[in-house]
Amino acid sequence: MNTSSKRKGILLAGGHGTRFYPATRSISKQLLPIYDKPMLYYPLTTLMLAGIKDILIITWEHERELFEKLLGNGEQWGLKLQYAAQEKPRGIAEAFRIAEQFIGDDAVCLMLGDNILYGEGIADLLQKAGQQIEGATIFGYWVQDPERYGVVSFDDQGQPLDIVEKPENPSSNYAVIGLYFYDNQVVDIAKQMQPSARGELEITDVTRVYLEQKNLQVTKLGRGIAWLDTGTPSAWLEASNFIQILEHRQGLKIGCPEEIAWRMGYIDSHQLMTLANPLLKSGYGKYLRNLVS
Ligand code: DAU
Repeated sequence: MNTSSKRKGILLAGGHGTRFYPATRSISKQLLPIYDKPMLYYPLTTLMLAGIKDILIITWEHERELFEKLLGNGEQWGLKLQYAAQEKPRGIAEAFRIAEQFIGDDAVCLMLGDNILYGEGIADLLQKAGQQIEGATIFGYWVQDPERYGVVSFDDQGQPLDIVEKPENPSSNYAVIGLYFYDNQVVDIAKQMQPSARGELEITDVTRVYLEQKNLQVTKLGRGIAWLDTGTPSAWLEASNFIQILEHRQGLKIGCPEEIAWRMGYIDSHQLMTLANPLLKSGYGKYLRNLVS
């Protein structure tokens, strides 16, 4: 399997989670379970499928310990996980300022901690995006309520024309999903940005710079792919139901870092069995053990 060795990953898992209050008063939304595993496992495994192993997890300072307890330094899955804090939710694009040193001279892929991407051929799609070291790649997904998202519109040749954050009157049905591949310029772009009218450093403004440079690739995701935003309690329940239905029908897990690490050759069967042992009571461990046998 190809890997994008010169690309680092960022998982953004801060935010107040106010749309989930009171459930998220004392715990981060991204630690809540989506069916049988923590929400953050899903975007984490998406980065893994993209071949990205060096990942910075950005959380609120006071929640960092909880994330570290769950994920550790990633060694158990053949990854290198580091942590950084965001003091306030000043916008998604602040991630690149926080991660400046971590990114260094590399390209980067940012994924929002509450997004789930699932479907046939995803790994190839992501690895292709990861191999493009110059410019930016984002993904457009047809939705019936584009006004809730960043929206990208296209010209007659299918080239991206404009990108607008939560427009009142969207000019297309293509929402921009919370997964962004950028070259190393992104750090300077983020450093020069000003907050929007709502006081945030907008990810959409970052992407617009690439659009203006004619350096933006937009990949449309088709019907066979599920993109789920788990940002509200209803969307969260729908995502849990979706995962439960597929896992129950096939007997295969979605977003399982141990399995992906094993399939990608980051860990061997013996290591997988060791990871399975403390999890046997939940059935998750039995699943891992059965993979080997
Ligand atoms: O889900 C895709 C959408 O995500 C995109 O279409 C939009 O262009 C993009 O702005 C974003 O919109 P949201 O309204 O979903 O963003 P939200 O403020 O809910 O933040 C998304 C995640 O990022 C959430 O898990 C919290 C985290 N976050 C957000 C902000 C603003 C942080 O960790 N820090 C922040 O400062």
